[in-house]
Amino acid sequence: MSLLLSIESSCDDSSLALTEIETLRLVWHRKISQETQHARYGGVVPELASRLHAVDLPRLLEQAKPWFAEISAVAVTNEPGLAVTLNEGVMLAKAFATFQKLPLIPVHHLKGHIWSLFIEQPTRLPMLVILISGGHTMILRVESLQRMEILATSMDDSVGESFDKVAKMMGLGYPGGPIVEALAREGDPERFELPVPLRNSPRIAFSLSGLKNAVRLVVEKLGGPEAMGERDRRDLAAAFQKAVIAHLIQKSRKILANDPIPDVALVGGASANLTIRGAYEKLCAEYGKRLHTAPLEFCADNAAMIGRYGVDALAAGLTVDPAGIRVNPSRKLQSGMNL
Ligand code: KG4
Ligand code: ZN
Repeated sequence: MSLLLSIESSCDDSSLALTEIETLRLVWHRKISQETQHARYGGVVPELASRLHAVDLPRLLEQAKPWFAEISAVAVTNEPGLAVTLNEGVMLAKAFATFQKLPLIPVHHLKGHIWSLFIEQPTRLPMLVILISGGHTMILRVESLQRMEILATSMDDSVGESFDKVAKMMGLGYPGGPIVEALAREGDPERFELPVPLRNSPRIAFSLSGLKNAVRLVVEKLGGPEAMGERDRRDLAAAFQKAVIAHLIQKSRKILANDPIPDVALVGGASANLTIRGAYEKLCAEYGKRLHTAPLEFCADNAAMIGRYGVDALAAGLTVDPAGIRVNPSRKLQSGMNL
């Protein structure tokens, strides 16, 4: 058995995984989420996150000890993310790969999200991929490991980020996505009228900061988060989620309608949202396309997806000398670029 060790620490999850290279079997996977530690600040505090990674990553590696002799490659997220947290994972990967004399594979976090579709499954490409996470909103045409064209991207806040900010405005916890989704399920989406972003613009891009500000105005009008009742929160969450979905679908439709690729995928932390999934199921059915999603446990950040990408990258020879690996926290990504 030959295993690939993968490490993820781009934000607030410390995660390690072991993937069997020949069979793609996920042999072992652990994740320590820091959500509760960051919740009191209403968002991720980078320095706190990095201190927690420094403790948790080595602790997880210790647990993988029984398999050390079988590990023949290491993959690690080196971009994009928080510089101080990426560094923790990269330092550990570098030390391990150097000490064990193993090839090292740098992994772009977003490629990891795309490869979450293929955990314990063969790679299935081409696909049109809608990626909605805490850091990004984009649509890509993914043809191969090395050809992934960005077709549309966000002009400001990402989907996950907008859910987080709306939750914070209403005085709710972090991460906001699952909280807002649960409230929205019980709410009346028609009570508050919120604008659908870029509705009259021909641009195929995403923007959520205007909608977020519209939510802020409603919260203020209601007297602030303390004055809001449960009903107000539910109705506002439902109106917000409805506007986000209308925006995502309107822009995605323009791409799906004109691209012959029959397979569409929805990935990233916010793809765990079942109402968003439902809307994409409907859109895909309209155009005779198949929608693919990752299992719910692999939508949010995890090392299993980094390992799955790592296996394909290893086969393609995309390894680096451990001494040469670099951390790229925020390379600018634009429509038309290759990821
Ligand atoms: O992919 P991810 O784990 O981290 C990044 O790479 O950014 O995504 C985390 C984001 C958070 O903003 C979180 O609020 C959002 O995904 N999220 C959701 C849901 N579950 C997580 N957003 C909307 N609805 C959800 N059910
Ligand atoms: Zn992510």
